[in-house]
Amino acid sequence: MVELREISEDNFVECIKLDLTKEQWRYVASNAYSLSEAYAQKNDGKYTPIPYAIYNGDEMVGFIMAVYQPIDEDDLEDDKNVFYLSRMMIDKRFQGNGYGKEAMIKMIEIMKTFQNGSAEAVVLSCSKENVVAYELYKSLGFVDTGECDEDGDSYFRLDLK
Ligand SMILES: CC(C)(COP(=O)(O)OP(=O)(O)OC[C@H]1O[C@@H](n2cnc3c(N)ncnc32)[C@H](O)[C@@H]1OP(=O)(O)O)[C@@H](O)C(=O)NCCC(=O)NCCS
Repeated sequence: MVELREISEDNFVECIKLDLTKEQWRYVASNAYSLSEAYAQKNDGKYTPIPYAIYNGDEMVGFIMAVYQPIDEDDLEDDKNVFYLSRMMIDKRFQGNGYGKEAMIKMIEIMKTFQNGSAEAVVLSCSKENVVAYELYKSLGFVDTGECDEDGDSYFRLDLK
């Protein structure tokens, strides 16, 4: 059974050792980068990072991170609180077993408790070339908004309310 567990002193080294195939690293930053980013975001206090290690039983199989982004009062175009799903990866040894999908479902359940803040939607960006991730998000009800980020990746959205 897939479980999301907090990253602690006991498991962060295992988390940064998780690996992908060479081609897959172009889709996602390293876990060391993501955890550093989470640390910096937490210190800044504007956004709330929500990183978890993904476990199957007692084995760590992946990493997932969302960021709670409340409305930026200085940005007139920003009128919504959202969760941004910034990272998801399953180690290359464990892919194709349903862990990624189950982890995403668990993450959405956590977001929906709004313990990190109330939000209208989960948003994320994904390259259309990344067929597995693209299909995974669509199968969970994410909708391609038709907009793209600066890298040309498609924005997806899942309404929470
Ligand atoms: C994307 C990723 C997290 C998926 O994890 P996974 O555990 O291998 O995926 P799952 O076994 O849970 O498969 C979930 C869904 O992906 C889709 N999928 C899986 N393999 C697929 C394939 N070969 N072709 C098309 N779709 C596929 C299906 O929709 C599947 O759901 P279903 O079995 O109910 O139909 C993993 O491939 C990964 O770490 N990739 C590299 C990092 C990355 O790209 N992250 C996402 C950045 S946007």
